[in-house]
Amino acid sequence: MKFVAVEVLKDLKPLHFRILQAVEWGMRFSEYSDVEEIAKRVNLHLEKLLHNLDFLHKKQLVERWSGDYIGYRLTFHGYDCLALNALYERRVIESIGLPRGLGKESNVYYALSFDGEEVLLKIHRIMYTSFSQVRKKREYTSDKHHISELYASRISAETEFKHMKKLYDVDAPIPRPIDQNRHMIVMEQIPGVELFKAKIKDPSVILEQIVDFMAIAWQKAHLVHGDLSEHNVLVLPNQTIKVIDFPQAVPSNHKTAEELLRRDVKNINDYFQRKFRIGYDEEEVISYIKGETNKI
Ligand SMILES: Nc1ncnc2c1ncn2[C@@H]1O[C@H](COP(=O)(O)OP(=O)(O)O)[C@@H](O)[C@H]1O
Ligand SMILES: [Mg+2]
Repeated sequence: MKFVAVEVLKDLKPLHFRILQAVEWGMRFSEYSDVEEIAKRVNLHLEKLLHNLDFLHKKQLVERWSGDYIGYRLTFHGYDCLALNALYERRVIESIGLPRGLGKESNVYYALSFDGEEVLLKIHRIMYTSFSQVRKKREYTSDKHHISELYASRISAETEFKHMKKLYDVDAPIPRPIDQNRHMIVMEQIPGVELFKAKIKDPSVILEQIVDFMAIAWQKAHLVHGDLSEHNVLVLPNQTIKVIDFPQAVPSNHKTAEELLRRDVKNINDYFQRKFRIGYDEEEVISYIKGETNKI
């Protein structure tokens, strides 16, 4: 997805942000915010509001709907503007740099903090593309799914940030979580590459660190990663690792925890088997991760 917000932010005045916020507020109650309600909330004459909404629409930040009332909703670009503005006002990020990667459910960008630190901005984008195509065909007039795209993306970011704080607090090898707003997370940038692309000196040293990560996560943060693979482990030049990507992590007492832990162990074991011909006995490694044995 194109990062429209970065291009239009400079053209937005405080009034525009207030209107976007009012649209966001109205979307808590219905799919489209009623223009009459927005006008009241921002204390503006309807005509002037509509003029401004027209501007925001041209910038692709809102979408218009008219039925028994005239309504507007935020697009992902509008939601981006609100989140970026909040992170800017909180003095968390000062500017956005190049994309680091465009994942399936996230866009990741380099960014600069006010202290001059290079940080990473992860934008969650949960999109129900296939559903909206079905919807277009059937021409539903009322559809909750656009709201839930923004909402689902926010929940995903909140959940990931919560998991990251928990893990970071117990010294698990993960990027330092810095801040979160709406569907965006700011975290430490790791100068490493994904395991599947990394130059590995001694595979057993890397495997051991990944297993230790799972043990710390389970025993101290009471979490299972749930999507551990060669794509979500970064290897640094000094051959240490950082694990990333936590929205799907679950508490170790969750009913699916055991199954997810087994899957994580299997994914990692299979990868090391395939690529380096090394691995552990799965049962033994699981006991070790759970702290039932001290050695593997
Ligand atoms: N803290 C970080 N430092 C450096 N690169 C990162 C960091 N977090 C994510 N990335 C990069 O962005 C990509 C996508 O991030 P990830 O959290 O795995 O999201 P997704 O859910 O899209 O897989 C990663 O594969 C990695 O290349
Ligand atoms: Mg990932």
